Amino acid sequence: MTESNNDNNLETHSQYEQGSAQSAKVTDEQVINWIKSRRSIGNLTIPAPKHHQVEAAIECAMTAPDHKKLQPWRFIVTEGQQRHAFGRALLAAAQAKAVLEGTDLDERTADKTLKMPLRAPMIITVVTNMKYHEKVPQFEQLLSAGAAVQNLLLALKAQGFSTVWRTGPLANEPEVKRYFNVGDEDYVIAFVYVGSSHCTMPTREDIDTTEFIKFDS
Ligand SMILES: Cc1cc2nc3c(=O)[nH]c(=O)nc-3n(C[C@H](O)[C@H](O)[C@H](O)COP(=O)(O)O)c2cc1C
Repeated sequence: MTESNNDNNLETHSQYEQGSAQSAKVTDEQVINWIKSRRSIGNLTIPAPKHHQVEAAIECAMTAPDHKKLQPWRFIVTEGQQRHAFGRALLAAAQAKAVLEGTDLDERTADKTLKMPLRAPMIITVVTNMKYHEKVPQFEQLLSAGAAVQNLLLALKAQGFSTVWRTGPLANEPEVKRYFNVGDEDYVIAFVYVGSSHCTMPTREDIDTTEFIKFDS
Protein backbone atom coordinates (compact mmCIF):
# COMPACT_ATOMS: atom_id res chain seq x y z
CA MET A 1 0.00 0.00 0.00
CA THR A 2 1.31 3.44 -0.86
CA GLU A 3 1.20 6.66 1.09
CA SER A 4 -2.12 8.45 1.05
CA ASN A 5 -3.68 11.72 2.04
CA ASN A 6 -7.09 10.23 2.63
CA ASP A 7 -8.71 7.33 4.40
CA ASN A 8 -8.89 4.92 1.48
CA ASN A 9 -5.67 3.19 2.22
CA LEU A 10 -6.02 -0.15 3.97
CA GLU A 11 -2.89 0.22 6.05
CA THR A 12 -4.02 3.66 7.17
CA HIS A 13 -7.35 2.18 8.16
CA SER A 14 -5.73 -0.50 10.27
CA GLN A 15 -3.63 2.17 11.94
CA TYR A 16 -6.72 4.20 12.78
CA GLU A 17 -8.46 1.20 14.16
CA GLN A 18 -5.52 0.16 16.27
CA GLY A 19 -4.65 3.69 17.39
CA SER A 20 -1.08 2.98 16.41
CA ALA A 21 1.32 4.51 13.94
CA GLN A 22 2.92 1.14 13.39
CA SER A 23 1.98 -0.95 10.43
CA ALA A 24 0.33 -4.07 11.81
CA LYS A 25 -0.99 -7.29 10.36
CA VAL A 26 -4.31 -6.59 8.69
CA THR A 27 -7.03 -8.85 10.01
CA ASP A 28 -9.84 -10.46 7.99
CA GLU A 29 -12.34 -8.20 9.76
CA GLN A 30 -10.36 -5.12 8.78
CA VAL A 31 -10.29 -6.23 5.16
CA ILE A 32 -14.05 -6.78 5.24
CA ASN A 33 -14.66 -3.40 6.84
CA TRP A 34 -12.32 -1.80 4.32
CA ILE A 35 -14.28 -3.30 1.39
CA LYS A 36 -17.50 -2.03 2.96
CA SER A 37 -15.97 1.41 3.41
CA ARG A 38 -15.62 2.01 -0.34
CA ARG A 39 -17.71 4.98 -1.34
CA SER A 40 -18.14 6.84 -4.59
CA ILE A 41 -16.67 10.31 -4.44
CA GLY A 42 -17.59 12.82 -7.13
CA ASN A 43 -15.37 15.64 -5.94
CA LEU A 44 -11.99 14.55 -7.26
CA THR A 45 -8.78 16.46 -7.68
CA ILE A 46 -5.06 15.94 -8.29
CA PRO A 47 -2.99 13.92 -7.77
CA ALA A 48 -4.21 11.24 -10.12
CA PRO A 49 -2.60 7.83 -9.94
CA LYS A 50 0.77 7.51 -11.63
CA HIS A 51 0.95 5.19 -14.60
CA HIS A 52 2.52 2.36 -12.62
CA GLN A 53 -0.34 2.64 -10.12
CA VAL A 54 -2.90 2.50 -12.94
CA GLU A 55 -1.13 -0.56 -14.33
CA ALA A 56 -1.20 -2.23 -10.91
CA ALA A 57 -4.93 -1.50 -10.62
CA ILE A 58 -5.65 -2.85 -14.11
CA GLU A 59 -3.65 -5.96 -13.28
CA CYS A 60 -6.06 -6.47 -10.35
CA ALA A 61 -9.02 -5.76 -12.63
CA MET A 62 -7.79 -8.48 -14.94
CA THR A 63 -7.90 -11.07 -12.16
CA ALA A 64 -11.71 -10.91 -12.30
CA PRO A 65 -13.40 -14.27 -12.85
CA ASP A 66 -13.18 -14.80 -16.60
CA HIS A 67 -14.66 -17.93 -18.17
CA LYS A 68 -12.20 -19.43 -20.67
CA LYS A 69 -9.90 -16.49 -20.05
CA LEU A 70 -11.32 -14.45 -22.89
CA GLN A 71 -10.23 -11.14 -21.35
CA PRO A 72 -13.38 -9.41 -22.63
CA TRP A 73 -12.29 -5.86 -21.76
CA ARG A 74 -10.17 -2.86 -22.67
CA PHE A 75 -9.15 0.09 -20.51
CA ILE A 76 -8.60 3.58 -21.93
CA VAL A 77 -6.92 6.03 -19.58
CA THR A 78 -7.78 9.65 -20.33
CA GLU A 79 -5.96 12.47 -18.60
CA GLY A 80 -4.70 16.01 -19.15
CA GLN A 81 -5.72 17.81 -22.34
CA GLN A 82 -7.19 14.64 -23.83
CA ARG A 83 -10.15 15.08 -21.44
CA HIS A 84 -11.27 17.96 -23.71
CA ALA A 85 -11.42 15.64 -26.73
CA PHE A 86 -13.46 13.19 -24.65
CA GLY A 87 -15.78 16.09 -23.70
CA ARG A 88 -16.21 16.98 -27.38
CA ALA A 89 -17.23 13.38 -28.13
CA LEU A 90 -19.83 13.55 -25.33
CA LEU A 91 -21.14 16.83 -26.68
CA ALA A 92 -21.37 15.45 -30.22
CA ALA A 93 -23.34 12.51 -28.80
CA ALA A 94 -25.68 14.81 -26.88
CA GLN A 95 -26.26 16.95 -29.98
CA ALA A 96 -26.98 13.93 -32.20
CA LYS A 97 -29.31 12.46 -29.56
CA ALA A 98 -31.21 15.74 -29.30
CA VAL A 99 -31.67 15.87 -33.08
CA LEU A 100 -32.93 12.29 -33.14
CA GLU A 101 -35.33 12.95 -30.27
CA GLY A 102 -36.43 16.28 -31.74
CA THR A 103 -35.41 18.15 -28.60
CA ASP A 104 -33.28 21.19 -28.03
CA LEU A 105 -29.88 21.01 -26.35
CA ASP A 106 -29.72 24.23 -24.38
CA GLU A 107 -26.42 26.04 -23.98
CA ARG A 108 -26.09 25.25 -20.29
CA THR A 109 -26.53 21.50 -20.83
CA ALA A 110 -24.14 21.59 -23.78
CA ASP A 111 -21.48 23.32 -21.69
CA LYS A 112 -21.99 20.93 -18.78
CA THR A 113 -21.67 17.94 -21.12
CA LEU A 114 -18.49 19.30 -22.68
CA LYS A 115 -16.93 19.74 -19.24
CA MET A 116 -17.97 16.38 -17.77
CA PRO A 117 -14.53 14.78 -18.13
CA LEU A 118 -12.97 17.68 -16.23
CA ARG A 119 -14.60 16.43 -13.02
CA ALA A 120 -11.51 14.34 -12.27
CA PRO A 121 -7.86 14.42 -13.29
CA MET A 122 -8.17 10.96 -14.81
CA ILE A 123 -10.92 8.82 -16.29
CA ILE A 124 -10.45 5.12 -16.92
CA THR A 125 -12.99 4.06 -19.50
CA VAL A 126 -13.75 0.36 -19.44
CA VAL A 127 -15.22 -1.14 -22.58
CA THR A 128 -16.10 -4.71 -23.38
CA ASN A 129 -14.13 -6.60 -25.97
CA MET A 130 -16.28 -9.70 -26.22
CA LYS A 131 -15.13 -12.74 -28.14
CA TYR A 132 -17.14 -15.44 -29.80
CA HIS A 133 -16.93 -18.66 -27.76
CA GLU A 134 -19.47 -21.44 -27.94
CA LYS A 135 -19.31 -22.02 -24.17
CA VAL A 136 -19.19 -18.40 -23.04
CA PRO A 137 -22.23 -16.34 -23.95
CA GLN A 138 -21.92 -12.59 -24.16
CA PHE A 139 -23.77 -12.01 -20.91
CA GLU A 140 -21.02 -13.90 -19.04
CA GLN A 141 -18.38 -11.78 -20.67
CA LEU A 142 -20.28 -8.62 -19.77
CA LEU A 143 -20.49 -9.74 -16.13
CA SER A 144 -16.81 -10.56 -16.15
CA ALA A 145 -15.99 -7.06 -17.38
CA GLY A 146 -18.23 -5.63 -14.63
CA ALA A 147 -16.35 -7.65 -12.03
CA ALA A 148 -13.13 -6.24 -13.46
CA VAL A 149 -14.44 -2.72 -12.86
CA GLN A 150 -15.15 -3.49 -9.20
CA ASN A 151 -11.63 -4.86 -8.77
CA LEU A 152 -10.32 -1.73 -10.44
CA LEU A 153 -12.19 0.49 -7.94
CA LEU A 154 -10.83 -1.46 -4.99
CA ALA A 155 -7.27 -1.54 -6.31
CA LEU A 156 -7.33 2.23 -6.82
CA LYS A 157 -8.73 2.68 -3.31
CA ALA A 158 -5.96 0.45 -1.94
CA GLN A 159 -3.46 2.88 -3.42
CA GLY A 160 -5.13 5.84 -1.71
CA PHE A 161 -7.34 7.12 -4.53
CA SER A 162 -11.04 7.89 -4.72
CA THR A 163 -13.31 6.95 -7.58
CA VAL A 164 -16.80 7.05 -8.95
CA TRP A 165 -18.15 4.63 -11.55
CA ARG A 166 -20.27 6.54 -14.02
CA THR A 167 -21.88 5.75 -17.33
CA GLY A 168 -24.77 8.11 -18.01
CA PRO A 169 -27.14 8.23 -20.98
CA LEU A 170 -24.43 9.09 -23.53
CA ALA A 171 -21.99 6.26 -22.80
CA ASN A 172 -23.21 4.00 -25.57
CA GLU A 173 -24.25 6.60 -28.10
CA PRO A 174 -22.55 6.09 -31.49
CA GLU A 175 -20.31 9.18 -31.19
CA VAL A 176 -18.89 7.99 -27.87
CA LYS A 177 -18.47 4.40 -29.00
CA ARG A 178 -16.69 5.63 -32.11
CA TYR A 179 -14.40 7.83 -30.00
CA PHE A 180 -13.36 4.81 -27.94
CA ASN A 181 -13.33 2.51 -30.97
CA VAL A 182 -16.04 0.27 -29.52
CA GLY A 183 -17.70 -2.14 -31.95
CA ASP A 184 -21.45 -2.54 -32.45
CA GLU A 185 -21.60 -5.66 -30.28
CA ASP A 186 -19.61 -4.15 -27.42
CA TYR A 187 -20.38 -1.66 -24.68
CA VAL A 188 -18.87 1.20 -22.79
CA ILE A 189 -19.49 -0.12 -19.28
CA ALA A 190 -17.70 2.39 -17.09
CA PHE A 191 -16.19 5.80 -16.92
CA VAL A 192 -14.19 5.40 -13.73
CA TYR A 193 -13.45 8.92 -12.58
CA VAL A 194 -10.29 8.78 -10.46
CA GLY A 195 -8.41 11.23 -8.31
CA SER A 196 -7.74 12.30 -4.79
CA SER A 197 -10.23 13.52 -2.28
CA HIS A 198 -9.71 15.42 0.89
CA CYS A 199 -13.11 14.67 2.31
CA THR A 200 -13.70 11.84 4.74
CA MET A 201 -15.43 8.88 3.15
CA PRO A 202 -19.12 9.09 3.99
CA THR A 203 -19.96 6.20 6.28
CA ARG A 204 -22.26 3.58 4.90
CA GLU A 205 -25.49 2.77 6.66
CA ASP A 206 -25.65 -0.67 8.21
CA ILE A 207 -26.60 -3.23 5.60
CA ASP A 208 -29.37 -5.66 6.39
CA THR A 209 -28.76 -8.75 4.28
CA THR A 210 -31.70 -10.81 5.54
CA GLU A 211 -34.07 -9.96 2.70
CA PHE A 212 -31.45 -10.81 0.12
CA ILE A 213 -30.20 -14.18 1.34
CA LYS A 214 -31.76 -17.56 1.57
CA PHE A 215 -29.64 -20.25 3.21
CA ASP A 216 -30.91 -23.49 1.80
CA SER A 217 -29.82 -26.56 3.70
C1 LIG B 1 -22.85 0.49 -14.38
C2 LIG B 1 -22.98 1.64 -13.43
C3 LIG B 1 -23.18 2.91 -13.92
C4 LIG B 1 -23.33 3.99 -13.07
N1 LIG B 1 -23.49 5.23 -13.59
C5 LIG B 1 -23.62 6.30 -12.77
C6 LIG B 1 -23.73 7.61 -13.30
O1 LIG B 1 -23.71 7.82 -14.51
N2 LIG B 1 -23.87 8.62 -12.43
C7 LIG B 1 -23.88 8.41 -11.07
O2 LIG B 1 -24.02 9.37 -10.32
N3 LIG B 1 -23.76 7.18 -10.55
C8 LIG B 1 -23.61 6.12 -11.36
N4 LIG B 1 -23.48 4.87 -10.83
C9 LIG B 1 -23.58 4.68 -9.37
C10 LIG B 1 -22.34 5.07 -8.61
O3 LIG B 1 -21.18 4.51 -9.20
C11 LIG B 1 -22.39 4.59 -7.15
O4 LIG B 1 -22.25 3.21 -7.07
C12 LIG B 1 -23.65 4.99 -6.42
O5 LIG B 1 -23.78 6.37 -6.43
C13 LIG B 1 -23.64 4.49 -4.96
O6 LIG B 1 -22.58 5.05 -4.25
P1 LIG B 1 -21.51 4.15 -3.46
O7 LIG B 1 -20.61 3.55 -4.53
O8 LIG B 1 -20.80 5.13 -2.58
O9 LIG B 1 -22.25 3.11 -2.70
C14 LIG B 1 -23.29 3.78 -11.68
C15 LIG B 1 -23.06 2.49 -11.18
C16 LIG B 1 -22.91 1.44 -12.04
C17 LIG B 1 -22.66 0.05 -11.47
